[in-house]
Amino acid sequence: MERFLSADAHNYRPSAIRAFARLINDPNIISFAGGVPNPETFPAERMAEIAARVIRERRNVALQYGPTRGLPRLCETIAAICRGRGVERGVDDVIVTTGSQQALDLLAHTLLDAGDVVLVELPTYIGGTASFHARSAVMVGVEQDDDGIVPESLDEVAARTKPKLLYTIPNFQNPSGRLMSRPRREAVLEIAAKHDFLIIEDDPYGELLYVDGADTTPLAARDTDGRVIYLGSFSKVLAPGLRCGFIAAPRALVATLEIAKQAADLCSGMLDQSIVDEFCAAGELGPQIARVRDFYRGKRATLIAALGEHFIGRATWTAAAGGLFTFVTLRAEVDTANQVKEAVERGVAYIPGAPFFVDGRGRNTMRLTFAKESDERMREGVRRLAEVFA
Ligand SMILES: Cc1ncc(COP(=O)(O)O)c(C=O)c1O
Repeated sequence: MERFLSADAHNYRPSAIRAFARLINDPNIISFAGGVPNPETFPAERMAEIAARVIRERRNVALQYGPTRGLPRLCETIAAICRGRGVERGVDDVIVTTGSQQALDLLAHTLLDAGDVVLVELPTYIGGTASFHARSAVMVGVEQDDDGIVPESLDEVAARTKPKLLYTIPNFQNPSGRLMSRPRREAVLEIAAKHDFLIIEDDPYGELLYVDGADTTPLAARDTDGRVIYLGSFSKVLAPGLRCGFIAAPRALVATLEIAKQAADLCSGMLDQSIVDEFCAAGELGPQIARVRDFYRGKRATLIAALGEHFIGRATWTAAAGGLFTFVTLRAEVDTANQVKEAVERGVAYIPGAPFFVDGRGRNTMRLTFAKESDERMREGVRRLAEVFA
């Protein structure tokens, strides 16, 4: 079969994280490894009611093919969500996608030729790099510190590599949990204008904010020359099984993305869209987001406190004022991939950090999520991790 595969197919990369699914689901293992929301946050009863109603009463919509751009009222809602975040987009500037993952895939298809350079953060989201790899793009890493992308690094790398685009996750990044500061966001926009590249701003975590005073205003809100392509998702605030995300971008690009999406799936699932649409139209998204924040706020504090207790002076970790993750950096000589087996034997799991770095570093890092476990199990889990890395 090999000889029939396309050149792009030879560049497909399997997810280094999906390989850990088994560990994440074993109840005997305290898992910091998952990258998924906690099912307790899903408004299941409300969704069941809405689903039953739209199936019975609106079968011509919920069970039918729909517009490629998405349910019209949902597109209005999404445009309003964007405006609420300061991103001035109208209904003609948005397209619903089958999760924001599809947005990444459609953008990769629409914008990239083989060999084009995509700048990505060090570290970055593996699903993003998977989409760019699948178009045979060349990924080049840009340094981050606790305030996000380091402007000098971005400027230097852009001058050297002439990128077509930058992929960034400014709000509570997966995997690092970092929040890009406001001055850094402005610097990134300036550097993009200077070197004339596009920005894909992926923002699935911006609403998951647990501390006061964090400025999560998207880069897209300050984009004056139509350079920022803004991605959002209902996965982390509602439920990822609904596969509902969106792109808000300059109108001409959205028109081309619509054609790409016709070829990909005609339209995103209409039942999923109907549920999200009805939920939002009933005014329930705001209260739901507040509940999700309340759910994770204490968990985040517990994990950070436990790290303080067991790893102070032996590791550093990100403050993770929002999102689902903190990222731990251990002594330079540690390779977290080598310790996974021992950790699992001790009944604790994490994700080694190296796969999130396109330049092969990060061996001494790991990603921990506070989404899954109870406070008690997290404290015990960190105690076990401390033994593993003693
Ligand atoms: C940064 C980032 N982007 C995109 C996605 C994909 O989300 P979805 O396709 O469910 O919207 C994820 C999921 O974990 C993510 O962390």
